[in-house]
Amino acid sequence: MDLTSTYTLSNGVKIPVVGFGTWQTPDGDIAESSVKAALDAGYRHIDTAEMYGNEKSVGRAIKASGVDRNSLFVTSKLNNINHTYERATAALDKSLADLGLDHLDLFLIHWPNPAPYRNDNWEKHLQETWRAMEDAYKAGKVRAIGVSNFYQHHLEVLEKTQTITPMVNQIHLCPGDHDDELVDYCRERGILLEAYSPFGTGKIFTDPTLQKLADETGHTIAQVCLRWSLQRKYLPLPKSVHAERIEENTHAFDFELNDEQMKKIDGLVGVAGYGGNPDEVNF
Ligand SMILES: NC(=O)c1ccc[n+]([C@@H]2O[C@H](COP(=O)([O-])OP(=O)(O)OC[C@H]3O[C@@H](n4cnc5c(N)ncnc54)[C@H](OP(=O)(O)O)[C@@H]3O)[C@@H](O)[C@H]2O)c1
Repeated sequence: MDLTSTYTLSNGVKIPVVGFGTWQTPDGDIAESSVKAALDAGYRHIDTAEMYGNEKSVGRAIKASGVDRNSLFVTSKLNNINHTYERATAALDKSLADLGLDHLDLFLIHWPNPAPYRNDNWEKHLQETWRAMEDAYKAGKVRAIGVSNFYQHHLEVLEKTQTITPMVNQIHLCPGDHDDELVDYCRERGILLEAYSPFGTGKIFTDPTLQKLADETGHTIAQVCLRWSLQRKYLPLPKSVHAERIEENTHAFDFELNDEQMKKIDGLVGVAGYGGNPDEVNF
């Protein structure tokens, strides 16, 4: 297994098993140079979003890298203000234009129940938005469609009207925060779990259990977290703006955590915080 290894989505599309994260990566030189460093280091899967405000820089880095578009997997996400059919359709076109691409590999609804629609029949808005995603998929603008930050009850809202089951659910999954019931629910429906914040947005690095396991395996905490994520068959999305860390985070394939080590990590609780509650976030 390496950075070019893939999982297969429910529609047969192959997706590289690790994606490079870009949330909180400042637009401009930093986004451009870190994405370029990731592509140079061998990542072939980039995760961005309209809300991150860096799609133009990500697009410039992709172009500058010279990496063949067909060997790259690019994901973006729908901004929370766009939960209508027309706005979702237009937002995808804007993401494509900003990235300088003619198609996305994966487009996600970023949050199911965002603040602008919460008191205005958010379920109806969500179903309408999903219909726009399905139509974009059928039109060939995106190779796969999915969701993010969805709990079971949000997936059930889609199930009432969907003609296509989401192929991905991208959620907060890291040591100390993994909702196994939700993971099972998704897997029963063929929905791949992408693990965002695999390092708890940087809060994981002082955990003593992980440090012990890092010492034991001769690897770093970052590598142990990524290895745990891969062995649980998640698709981790590590983010860094530093070339040496970007490179360090590619080395999650040359060792294995044994059952006892996996169980130790499985048993951690809240060590790097929890993901935001999608029914309560204020955006
Ligand atoms: N769908 C969603 O709602 C959602 C939400 C959150 C995240 N995501 C996605 O998931 C990606 C990753 O999540 P995240 O950005 O929350 O953070 P993360 O990947 O869990 O952690 C990133 C933090 O860890 C540091 N770091 C990275 N590698 C390191 C290493 N080897 N040693 C020490 N420190 C290291 C980074 O610092 P430096 O950058 O300074 O190196 C940064 O502070 C995002 O970028 C985004 O693409 C999606």
